[in-house]
Amino acid sequence: VSSEARQMIEAHELLRKFYHHLLINTKEGQHALEYLLERGFTKESIDKFQIGYALPTWDFTVKLLQKRGYSLSVLEKAGLIIKREEENSFFDRFRNRIMFPILDPKGVPVAFAGRAIEKNDQPKYLNSPETDIFNKSSILYNWNHARSSIKKQQQIILFEGFADVISADRAGIHNGVATMGTSLTDQHVQLIRRTTDSVVISYDSDKAGTDAAYRAAEMLIKNGCQVKIARMRDGLDPDEYIKKFGPEKFQHDVIGGSLTFMAFKMQYFRMGKNLQNEGEKLQYIEEIIKEIAKLEKAIEREHYMKQLADEFDISLEALSAQQQQVYFKEK
Ligand code: GTP
Ligand code: MN
Ligand code: MN
Ligand code: MN
Ligand code: MN
Repeated sequence: VSSEARQMIEAHELLRKFYHHLLINTKEGQHALEYLLERGFTKESIDKFQIGYALPTWDFTVKLLQKRGYSLSVLEKAGLIIKREEENSFFDRFRNRIMFPILDPKGVPVAFAGRAIEKNDQPKYLNSPETDIFNKSSILYNWNHARSSIKKQQQIILFEGFADVISADRAGIHNGVATMGTSLTDQHVQLIRRTTDSVVISYDSDKAGTDAAYRAAEMLIKNGCQVKIARMRDGLDPDEYIKKFGPEKFQHDVIGGSLTFMAFKMQYFRMGKNLQNEGEKLQYIEEIIKEIAKLEKAIEREHYMKQLADEFDISLEALSAQQQQVYFKEK
């Protein structure tokens, strides 16, 4: 580790402590703490995840770290402060935000994500930029905590957001991690694959999360993972679901009831279709039998073909004949 990288990490460590202190112990941080408690965060999870608060002032970080002897250009490289064009001065990147430290696999803080508190504050999440010590596409949030549970349980749960990981942790699910606003990368997959091959994707059940879950599932399966996909009603995300229905229902119904990729596809392909309409129904059936044909195991193919036959009251023979036409002919 170069001394510059070491300084960057030290600055993060120092700030993490300050931010946490500001949130927990000060009047300035009170509204941020109230916001978190209101959302269902507990003192324990605020402590475990070392959540903090960045003051609204423009130069808290600049002054604090300069006083401690850090070079401003190193802090700029670390993404903590930003240079004003023209003037030779700097200001804090993170202001009036709830601060989530992002730790590398060793538990060392290398970046922050700052969540807006006020509704109209944009962006909702402001992340550190990529730096010499922070590579977004290779870090999974909570990996440092979750790794031993993932190993022990031989399963990982993938979430979209910080709040989902933390709520799930509070609900007793300790093998959860999240990508940070990016889609899953090859590097993430390699990291996961070295520890387990069983993945439950528990992204938000809105359109964006559902599409992202589809892509993540394809990628993980291509890399030899066993994948299940968790679904929640009304487009909820895991954090919202746990708050509304409680940890037990999340564990048993959502994670316990997670779908195979094929069962997920049977839901996915009908979205936006009106199956009462004859044409759309037939289109749906064709799409699904194509997907079923791609399954490796004969018993799986038969299982889903039967399910389709049952649902639409079509004979297995007709479905199989159709499958021969639309899939195997194409190949
Ligand atoms: P909460 O509203 O705090 O519960 O956030 P969320 O995790 O439900 O957010 P959402 O589902 O909208 O997004 C999922 C993840 O994408 C977040 O946890 C962030 O990592 C990331 N994200 C969301 N909004 C932004 C944004 O405005 N900018 C960036 N860079 N990332 C974002
Ligand atoms: Mn504490
Ligand atoms: Mn989302
Ligand atoms: Mn969400
Ligand atoms: Mn959320």
